[in-house]
Amino acid sequence: MTINAVAQTLAGQSVAAGLDDVVAAETRLSHVDGQAGELIISGFHLHQLADWSFEQVLELLWRDLTPEPMDAARIREALGKARVRAHTLMQPLLPGLAHLNAVERLRLLLSALPDEEHLPHHVMAVGAVPVFTAAIARQASGLKPIAPDASLSHAEDFLKLLRNEMPTSDKVTALDTYLATVSDHGLNASTFTARVIASTKAGMFSSVVGGLCALKGPLHGGAPGPVLDMLDAIGTEKNIRPWLTDTLARGERLMGFGHRIYRVRDPRANVLKGAVSRLKEGSERIGFAGKVEAVALELLKEKKPLRPLQTNVEFYTALVLEAVGFPRESFTNVFAAGRMAGWTAHVLEQEQTGRLIRPQSRYIGQRAGSF
Ligand code: ACO
Repeated sequence: MTINAVAQTLAGQSVAAGLDDVVAAETRLSHVDGQAGELIISGFHLHQLADWSFEQVLELLWRDLTPEPMDAARIREALGKARVRAHTLMQPLLPGLAHLNAVERLRLLLSALPDEEHLPHHVMAVGAVPVFTAAIARQASGLKPIAPDASLSHAEDFLKLLRNEMPTSDKVTALDTYLATVSDHGLNASTFTARVIASTKAGMFSSVVGGLCALKGPLHGGAPGPVLDMLDAIGTEKNIRPWLTDTLARGERLMGFGHRIYRVRDPRANVLKGAVSRLKEGSERIGFAGKVEAVALELLKEKKPLRPLQTNVEFYTALVLEAVGFPRESFTNVFAAGRMAGWTAHVLEQEQTGRLIRPQSRYIGQRAGSF
């Protein structure tokens, strides 16, 4: 077919802007039912995973995708080694990053993982994020990074790397719940990005760096920090309604509300609300946040009565992560620590089964000779 003939054929096709209804991959990793408000992760409803360790979730997601199958105990051991290795690789790079923000530093450190790394790359990618995230958060407070403790669970060591003290078991449980909750979510923007890169055979680290770059935007994983900014800006109960009304009247978005797929409440919001409710550190915020949420939902319903926007995962993410002790600048990086489970599994799945992902575009520019 000539170039002109191809252009003619494509000209007749409609453009799937936002790719809303396009099914671009088959996966056994997760399923999002936006009408029913259901998230299934490798055969389990999200709420069934709420009290699993992150290692158990990784066992589920990585099952049948790696040359050597690993149970949760072996994954825990392998992640310990990966954290230690990531700490060694990070040390010479960290001092040069002070001018970057938290997610930019994580982007740079992750992209420094070498393709010839001897540890399995999916384990290394998951192991590295808490080490980098905690060191980045400490650097912002003028503190030196802590050496990982390979004998601890991933969530335990994540919190210890942050504060240099053993975390309480309720905080570890809340972080495990958070990491499990955000571990995978269908073909979201960052996972799709990672799969596109994996489809070119660029390798695990390049693929997950791409995932992080997509996650960083405020329409995806950049929202939870701004949720706390919003709660702080509202400040008092009296100010809830006027603040939210003015914000919507200015055409601005309320952070932590709305979702491309869910038409009902995001099931992850409930699991995280439960997790934060069990922490004494979260009690002050949660009462106020609940009142903000109720008024926001009321106003959003007035705005769009036929399809009212609902609370999304980021609203309660902000409360959980604050309660377990992360500074808000770290929130996107902690999200990446959980979503790394899904990104690595999707990259492995894409490498096993996928073809090069290469859609078409419809040319609307000028044609040669028509200038
Ligand atoms: N507050 C107010 N209005 C909103 C919001 C919101 N949070 N979200 C969407 N709208 C409005 C839009 O202004 C638009 O109105 P219009 O039709 O009058 O122009 C309409 O709802 C549809 O918006 P779209 O941007 O087309 O919806 P989309 O499905 O693309 O957006 C998104 C989904 C990006 C999550 C959006 O709801 C949003 O920006 N939310 C706030 C940021 C946020 O919480 N992000 C985290 C998402 S969860 C995650 O990625 C893990």
